[in-house]
Amino acid sequence: MTSRERFLAACACEKLDRPPLWVMRQAGRYLPEYRALKAKSSFLEMVRTPELAMEVTLQPLRRFALDAAILFSDILVIPEALGQGYRFREEGGIAMEYRLETRAQVDALAPAAAVPERLQYVDATLKLLKRELAGKQALLGFGGSPWTLATYMVEGGSSEEFERIKQLFYTDRALFDALLEKITAALIAYFQMQIQAGADAIQIFDSWGGIIAGQDYEAASLRWIRAIIAALPREFPIILYAKGTAPQLTDQAFTGIRVLSVDWTNDLAIVRRTLPGNVAVQGNLDPVLLNTTPEIVRHEASRLLESMRGTSGHVFNLGHGIMPHAKLECMQALVDSVTAWR
Ligand code: CP3
Repeated sequence: MTSRERFLAACACEKLDRPPLWVMRQAGRYLPEYRALKAKSSFLEMVRTPELAMEVTLQPLRRFALDAAILFSDILVIPEALGQGYRFREEGGIAMEYRLETRAQVDALAPAAAVPERLQYVDATLKLLKRELAGKQALLGFGGSPWTLATYMVEGGSSEEFERIKQLFYTDRALFDALLEKITAALIAYFQMQIQAGADAIQIFDSWGGIIAGQDYEAASLRWIRAIIAALPREFPIILYAKGTAPQLTDQAFTGIRVLSVDWTNDLAIVRRTLPGNVAVQGNLDPVLLNTTPEIVRHEASRLLESMRGTSGHVFNLGHGIMPHAKLECMQALVDSVTAWR
């Protein structure tokens, strides 16, 4: 069976001899070939140039026997397409062009219909990748959740305390809803474009889903994700990753998603047992393990694999993105452990 078939079978919770494997942020700074390209072109140039974005997407697949490729891009292309650009701060983190604070600023955002046109380069990159992969590996598209994108837009960039977005949520729900509605509509148009361009699955990153009170997760984040899923083709595989939301896993599983990607603080075998059998789970090795030694990686990967023995519907991954200090020999040990396991 091809890697793509293995990946799709795991999403469909079919029985497999071993889980498929891919790694969040598998293209990135831990790869010397990525750093070499970045010395010549900025991150944004790489994202906006289909040939470069394709090259970066394929770099990890040339080195490692991964079962899926994930589009090289960023979740922040959506705020940018709506009219709020972004850049990287010297000291690390994101700076948006401005902070979104008023009704007039929300009204001034571009309409959802403009988004596919402004993100033509993503369409072009996915089509190039589809051809290049030729059905061997699965091709993943992605985007941020409406809530996670709203945190960057309202905070004006990366944040520690998320005071502004929470203030907005609690003090002016009408404006909060108007903003989230706009982002949601933009994401629906964007994901429809990705599906038409050939994506086999789409991962929604609700990276900041865990910062809002548990009883407000539905109103702040999950209802908007639900609206996206309702607007996409019924059987299309959607993966939801929401960091730090363990109490909400069951609600997330009932949104109509096909795969729930869980962070490393969860016991994956317990999550597998508690979720409905038609929802697959993805994860969830601690990314820091890839900064240690190949022996430790082999040991921990085997522990996770053994804990899942006999279950169906597991896509092997980390519990969050691989870190810039990850070691190549640790990544190799992970790939060897998962692909040799039976
Ligand atoms: O997984 C992949 O390989 C696909 C590419 C991908 C990137 N960003 C490339 C990237 C994906 C899926 C993302 C998603 C993303 N971007 C998220 C959600 C995932 C998560 O980690 O929770 C978020 C929150 C962002 C926003 C973002 N982009 C941040 C916070 C940063 C780091 C900024 C810093 O402090 O340096 C980025 C930059 C970024 N996106 C890099 C990569 C490879 C590093 C850019 C570099 O080379 O310096």
